[in-house]
Amino acid sequence: MATFSTPDNDPNIEASGRTPVPLEFSKDFLWGVSTAAHQVEGNSQNQWSDWEAAGHIRSGDTCGSACDWWGNAERDFDLVRDIGLNALRFSVDWSRIEPRQGEWDLTALRRYREMLDGLVQRGISPIICLHHFTHPRWFEHNGAFLSLDAPELFERFTRVVIDALGEQCSRWLTFNEPNVYAAMGYALGEFPPGRRGDIGAAMRVMSAMARCHLRAYHAIHQLQPHAEVGWAHHYVVLEPQGRGPDRWIAALVNELFNESFLRLIQYGRLPFPLSMLDGTAGAVKGSCDFVGLNVYNRFHVAFDYRNRAQAFARLFVPPHVPQGDSACDRPYGEAYPQALRQAVERSAKLGKPIYILENGVPDAQDRIRPWLIVNAVKEMHQLIAEGHDIRGYFHWTLTDNFEWTEGWRLRFGLVALDCATQERTIRGSGKLYGEIARRNALSPEMIAEYGQLESASATKF
Ligand code: BGC
Repeated sequence: MATFSTPDNDPNIEASGRTPVPLEFSKDFLWGVSTAAHQVEGNSQNQWSDWEAAGHIRSGDTCGSACDWWGNAERDFDLVRDIGLNALRFSVDWSRIEPRQGEWDLTALRRYREMLDGLVQRGISPIICLHHFTHPRWFEHNGAFLSLDAPELFERFTRVVIDALGEQCSRWLTFNEPNVYAAMGYALGEFPPGRRGDIGAAMRVMSAMARCHLRAYHAIHQLQPHAEVGWAHHYVVLEPQGRGPDRWIAALVNELFNESFLRLIQYGRLPFPLSMLDGTAGAVKGSCDFVGLNVYNRFHVAFDYRNRAQAFARLFVPPHVPQGDSACDRPYGEAYPQALRQAVERSAKLGKPIYILENGVPDAQDRIRPWLIVNAVKEMHQLIAEGHDIRGYFHWTLTDNFEWTEGWRLRFGLVALDCATQERTIRGSGKLYGEIARRNALSPEMIAEYGQLESASATKF
């Protein structure tokens, strides 16, 4: 059962004898949704399309026309505006912009420009991510981030994007989740290039991405001195099952997964002995203007000598915890809104503003998404009250979209999508989230209605 701790100074507690009041946010707070090019645009031609064609998607799906953004993203921009949000994060697909090395597709840049104009006209603030898991085939064949010229190529691409789109956008993410990209592609074999068990390569990929991030960070600031540049960091809560080896292994996974990229940006290097794998990235230290956090789950962790690919850790989800829909052959993870606290407290050590850039749950029937949103927003309000500089919350995601190895099986949208007809239906959670954004506050009624799992509508465990 989910319990929610209620701190003494929570203005919403009737037991304290005070009348409950709304939990308000600052007037420039960003309420948004996050998306990614490959997951929404449709008919992309990148290294992920090849991965799909090679049969690696567990559900057997392919991305197809996705949410048809390349043809009509504006239909979803209307929804963002109508729901009541004021921000949207999207990514550009490098493979559309530089389909062959050194050849730039001006039509693709124009389309991105048009999308950006569409957002600005609707009063929606954009954040653009330069790399969300996908890139051109030629870059992949060249060794992707492990190739020596990756920083130069990534910087060149960055400059082209900022030149084309910089007039309408000043918040940039260099990368989405270097830790997920590296772990999935090089240790777990679930993303291209599909390497398994090579934790050393995963660490080298993260360091290489940190060097690319650094080049892009300076290039963006050179072209746009007032820009805000960061990256989106995936943070997961790891709960050791028992003492001794379970704790050590949870600490190791935390170090490899949660800490590595944060440390690269915070200190410019990995701790010894991981530093021996990483080449030097010293100048990376401090190269961000904000930290973006993608936070979803808690996993329980046990030592398992058979699980070498995962650093001898077994990550699992106990059956009694709140969960969204299951992935094809395993639970997606525990839905854990309090994870925001651990993620924010850790990344606050970098001393930069924080945006929550992804938070959500796969939940086709909207069983627990309202509960998750209300409790995540409540946790965030409390963190801000404690002095944390959190400037925005971006839900993952607007419209059900193509969920990587799980294909169309997992539905993360505030808006349900029928992929065949492209028909959209706003879920109750979409209306609720819009209401929070429009009021710029969480009302006592919302907390009373959705804050407890038992009372959340249609909850079934
Ligand atoms: C990724 C998204 C993905 C989401 C849900 C995040 O880690 O950035 O692309 O769809 O998780 O699994």
